[in-house]
Amino acid sequence: MEILKTVIPAAGIGSRFLPYTATVPKEMLPVLHKPALQYIVEEGLQSAINQFIVITSRNKEQLADHFSPSNELQALLEERGKKDALADLKKIIRQAHFTYVRQHEPLGLGHAVLMARNLIGKEHFGIMLPDDLIVNPANPGLAQLIRVARQEKGSVIAVQEVPASCISSYGIVGIKKQISPSIFQVSHVVEKPDPKDAPSNLAIIGRYVLSSKIFASLEEMGTYATGELQLTDAIGHMIQQNEKVFAYKIQGIRYDVGTPIGWVKAIIGMSLQDPAYAPHIKSFLADLDGAESFLYNSQKSIEHVR
Ligand code: G1P
Repeated sequence: MEILKTVIPAAGIGSRFLPYTATVPKEMLPVLHKPALQYIVEEGLQSAINQFIVITSRNKEQLADHFSPSNELQALLEERGKKDALADLKKIIRQAHFTYVRQHEPLGLGHAVLMARNLIGKEHFGIMLPDDLIVNPANPGLAQLIRVARQEKGSVIAVQEVPASCISSYGIVGIKKQISPSIFQVSHVVEKPDPKDAPSNLAIIGRYVLSSKIFASLEEMGTYATGELQLTDAIGHMIQQNEKVFAYKIQGIRYDVGTPIGWVKAIIGMSLQDPAYAPHIKSFLADLDGAESFLYNSQKSIEHVR
C-alpha cells in the first residue's frame, strides 16, 4: 500500500481564535519559533509523505508564502552570516511538493477533503488536521497510522481516550472488535455526541489514513441535511459500504492549537521539551510568586537597593 499524499484542510475561518484570525490564518499561529502548519508538514515528511495538498480559502496566501521565503530575505540572512536561520524551511522546500486548492464555501471538513478528489486517484492517503499537533520524535503520528493501515489493509483513524466532559467536542468511534491493545475495528462513528449517547470514550484526533472510497461516500452524503459535510459522517457511510476502518490509539502528546488555552498549553509543553527554552520556562513557572517575578502583586515588598 503506497501512501505518498496527505491532505491538510486549512480553509477554516478560525472562529475560536478571533480576533487574531480576522487577518492571520490560524495555521500561522507561532508555537515557539515555527508556525503550527510547519510542524504538520514536518510530521508528514518524517512519515515518508512528500505530497501535501493544502485546502485553503480567501486570505490564506500566507500559508504558501511561508514555504517560499523571498530571495531578498535569503540574501539578507546570508549577508549577515545567518543563513542557517532558514535551514529547517529549506529542507522542507527541497523535500515537499505542495498543491493548494481553494474551498470557495465553508461547507465543513468533509467538503474540504472532497476538494482533493482529483489529486488523489485510487490510492490510500493521509489527512492531517493542523489544529492537532502530535509530538512523538521517535515515532511520528502519521507514520504510526500508515503502519497500521498497511498491516490491517484498511483505513485508520487516530484516537485518544478522553474524559466524559470532553466527548461532545470530538468525533467518537464505536468498537466492533478489539484487534490489539491499541487497534480496534470500528463499527460506526458519531460526530460530537452527547456524552450519554457516546459509543465509547475514544475520540478522533486529527490524523487519518483513508481509502479513496471516502470520496464516493462524501459525494453521496452531500451537504443537504445540515449545510455542512462532516468527514465523520462519510467515514460512517464508508463502513456501511463494507470498507474496513480501524481506530488506533496514537502514541504521543497531542495539543489542540485551535483554541487559545490549547495553544498556550502547547507552547508551555513544547518549550519544556526543548533544551533551548526549558530552563527559562521552568524557572519562570517555579518563581511566579517569587521576589524576582515581574508579575504584579500588591502584597509583595521588594527591597530597593539604592
Ligand atoms: C474535527 C472532526 C472531529 C475530530 C476533531 C479532532 O472537529 O470533525 O471528528 O474529533 O476535528 O480535532 P473540529 O475540531 O474541527 O470541530
